[in-house]
Formats: sequence, C-alpha cells, structure tokens
Amino acid sequence: MAIFTDENNKTDGIIAVIQDITEEYKLDIMRKDFVANVSHELRTPLTSVKSYTETLLDGALQDRATAEQFLGVINDEADRMTNLVKDLLTLSQHDGGIILNFEDISISDLIGSCTDRMRRVAKLKNQEIKTKINKGIPIIQGDRYRIDQLITNIIGNAIKYTAEKGKIMVQAHCEKNLVIISVEDNGIGIPAPDIARIFERFYRVDKARSRQMGGTGLGLAIAKEIAILHGGDITVKSKLGKGTNISIILPIRKAHQQAL
Ligand SMILES: Nc1ncnc2c1ncn2[C@@H]1O[C@H](COP(=O)(O)OP(=O)(O)OP(=O)(O)O)[C@@H](O)[C@H]1O
Ligand SMILES: [Mg+2]
Repeated sequence: MAIFTDENNKTDGIIAVIQDITEEYKLDIMRKDFVANVSHELRTPLTSVKSYTETLLDGALQDRATAEQFLGVINDEADRMTNLVKDLLTLSQHDGGIILNFEDISISDLIGSCTDRMRRVAKLKNQEIKTKINKGIPIIQGDRYRIDQLITNIIGNAIKYTAEKGKIMVQAHCEKNLVIISVEDNGIGIPAPDIARIFERFYRVDKARSRQMGGTGLGLAIAKEIAILHGGDITVKSKLGKGTNISIILPIRKAHQQAL
C-alpha cells in the first residue's frame, strides 16, 4: 500500500494492490494433501513388510508353511508399492506435460485386445464381459499405450466393484465427431454425493474396502487425465446398488491435427 501526499504533506491518495491468493492457497492445500496421501499409502505396506520380516527373523523362518505365507504377503505389499510408484510417475509426467505419441488407432481392435485381456481377470470372479462395437468406427488419432491404459483402468474398476457372477458390457459407437466407449456394470454403484469426487487423486468411496481390494484411488484420476490430453473426457452415471456406467469420449481427430 502506498500513500501519496501533496506539497503540504497532506494525503492526496492511496494506492493499494490486492492480490487474490485463493487459487495459490487451494493449490498449496492440494499439494500438502497429496504428499500426506502418498506418505500414508507407502507407509502402510512398508509397515507390514517390516513387521513380517521381523517375525521371520525372530524365528518364524524355521516353520516353512508360515514362512511361505509371510513371504507371500511381503511380495504382495512390494507389488502394491511398485504399482503406486508407477501410478505416481504417470501422474507426474502428466503434470509436466507428457508428450503423447499420436498414431492412427483402430478403436475396435484396441477394445478387442483390452477386453480379451480383462476377461481373464473377470473369469476369476465368474463375471461375464460382453462387447458391442458398432461397425464403421473410424480410425482415431491417439496414444495407443495410454488409451489401452485408460480402457483397462475402467474395465478393471467394473470388475473390482462388481460382485461374483456380475455382468459387464463394453460398447462403442460414434456420435458426430466423437467416439464413445462405455463400460457398464451391474455392481455396487456409487453414492450420488461421491460421484463428483471419484476423479480426484486418492479419492475412494469406501477407503477400507477399496484398499482391501488393492486400490489407491489413482486409477480414475489417471484415466481422466489421459482422456483430457486427447481432447476428450470421461463421464459417469451410477446408481447405488444397481451399477455404474462410465463413458470415455474421444474426438475422432484432435482439433490441432485437423488444422494441419
Ligand atoms: N465401476 C465402479 N463401480 C463402483 N464404484 C466405482 C467404480 N469405479 C470406480 N468406483 C469408485 O471410485 C473410486 C475411485 O476409483 P479409482 O479407480 O480412481 O480408484 P481405485 O479403484 O480405488 O484404486 P486404483 O484404481 O488406484 O487401484 C473407487 O475407490 C470406487 O469407490
Ligand atoms: Mg481403479
């Protein structure tokens, strides 16, 4: 703030500069939350690795069956940490402006290979994955690896949050200059107040259950970033106890490439 005076030293005017720091403040809180979440997610598996290892060193190693069971847990927890670090790296690459490797992709083929792969996971829960891909979906421009990751994430959630013998339907069709891929399940659904938040990093509707199933709440945050980087989006419709429908929307051609 600056005060201006005239030749008689009387106040003539004041200049005040006011800066709105709401956004910075929000970002700062988000950053702190993010670090707290990451530390928590890493600390939990580390604590169990440490305690199982100590028990083994304290003598449990002599009992082969127990030792095998404990080593299994240590192995799973190590996998969990690896996945978390992988997800974090993906997100930080996005933050730094990841360069997508654009190429021509046949969405029908890509959905085919993702569903074939995920059918094996669904089979473990006796779930059925059906596909209905409309004919004539044009080739789109996109990063094959990232779009595969995006579709796999969404189908993975459908499997994870649907009970044994559940049904999952993957459909694709065109609408104007968009390709819409929808994944519908008849699983547990999402409570209405949570729907708007599921794309936030580390957001899980039921933290205890999700963690038990190996989730950290980063999957949809990554999926959404990939869709947006392609000029698309992801939308969600869900009814608690009935099921969920997630739609991936991708432009057939990105605007800047159309201009080339
Ligand atoms: N198909 C679905 N049915 C019901 N709930 C879902 C579905 N997909 C996502 N959710 C809810 O949204 C939350 C966020 O999903 P997200 O994929 O980001 O995390 P996650 O599956 O818990 O963990 P991660 O994907 O990182 O392993 C989930 O914890 C779950 O509560
Ligand atoms: Mg997930």
